[in-house]
This record gives sequence, C-alpha cells and structure tokens, in this order.
Amino acid sequence: MKVTVSRKAHFNAAHRLYRKDWSHEKNDEVFGKCNNPNFHGHNYELTVSVTGNIDQETGYVIDMKVLKDIIKNEVEDAFDHKNLNVEVPAFKDLNPTTENIAVVIYNKIKPKLDGELDLEITLYETPRNFVTYSGS
Ligand code: NI
Repeated sequence: MKVTVSRKAHFNAAHRLYRKDWSHEKNDEVFGKCNNPNFHGHNYELTVSVTGNIDQETGYVIDMKVLKDIIKNEVEDAFDHKNLNVEVPAFKDLNPTTENIAVVIYNKIKPKLDGELDLEITLYETPRNFVTYSGS
C-alpha cells in the first residue's frame, strides 16, 4: 500500500534566462522579460511529495520533521533570497528555468531519502505556471 505525503515550502529568488551563445535579439525573442539583464525575482512555491509504504512501527511514510529539514537544508538555505545565476553553482552553466530548477531540487533531495521512497517535485514560478518532475 503506497501512500504519498507532501510538504509545501517557498523561496524567493532572482534569475535571468538567457544563453551566452545567442545574440541579445534571439534571447529577447525566446525568453522575453525573463532575459532582463538586471535580473528579476519570483516567489517560488514548492511541493515536495514522497511516496512509499507506511512504516508499521511509526505509521509514517517519512517523518515530516525529517522532510522539513531536508527541504530547508537543500532548497531554502541554498536558494532563498539568492540570485540563481550568480550565487547558485548548479546554474552557473544551466539556464534557471522552472524546469531546470525542479530537476536540480529533485537531484538534491532524492539522495537524502531512503532508497525505496519515490519523490515528486512540483514547482510554481507564478500562481499559474508550474512544473512537475519525478525523476524519469
Ligand atoms: Ni523569470
């Protein structure tokens, strides 16, 4: 019997979407306002979902305090109030799109979980735009 437990978190971060190897015109055409050279911020809303069997002793899939601490250490401390392009090494050569941020978050959290647990990351960049990644 598999059960999914989820915890929400959020962080504010700045970014700029662009490719160094494209002209300013092409970056503008593809990335629009997100190519602003002076960066801009988003209020990212994150849902981390963990799926697994209920532990017969504890009744938990995962202790929420453990999950909370993993999210704090791996995501909030690393991304909150940061300029993703400049201050977060994962995005030095990776465009910080919502898609790529979700994959980076997945790759940071997954190794911290017990191996039999499945992970899904949902990341909202705006209230209407969001991305889901579950490792496939
Ligand atoms: Ni943006």
